[in-house]
Amino acid sequence: MMWKEKYKIGIPQIDKQHKELFDRVEQFLTALRKEGDWQEKLPEIKKTLLFMQNYVVVHFDAEEVYQKKIGYPDLQQHHLIHKEFTDYVMQCAHDFEKEGYPEQSVQKFAGKLLAWLINHVVATDLKMSDYVKKEGAL
Ligand SMILES: [Fe+2]
Repeated sequence: MMWKEKYKIGIPQIDKQHKELFDRVEQFLTALRKEGDWQEKLPEIKKTLLFMQNYVVVHFDAEEVYQKKIGYPDLQQHHLIHKEFTDYVMQCAHDFEKEGYPEQSVQKFAGKLLAWLINHVVATDLKMSDYVKKEGAL
């Protein structure tokens, strides 16, 4: 499993969603790395990709609603990071659709997705958790 205890930021609702995201990225990678013909793997790959396109939006929204609620000072900057990543995911999905899901591009995208997610959770989201602890805002 890709999800690790150290990814917990200590805000239960957000930790739950992060775990779901990691699970889905893992599912995506597993689908990509399966033995067999690329074309045969495509339906599952498309399905997982579609889910993630929706789920990143749902999750980022939830995180931002939470940040508003606690008066998080870096909300605007955090929002921009979310937006940039959402745009990237949507752009890739759009390009894949247009280009017929080229294997190399999809593989590269999956690697980036995982790296971004880990980095974002342990760096950017953790700052939110530090604020909560410091301010007692939970
Ligand atoms: Fe975030």
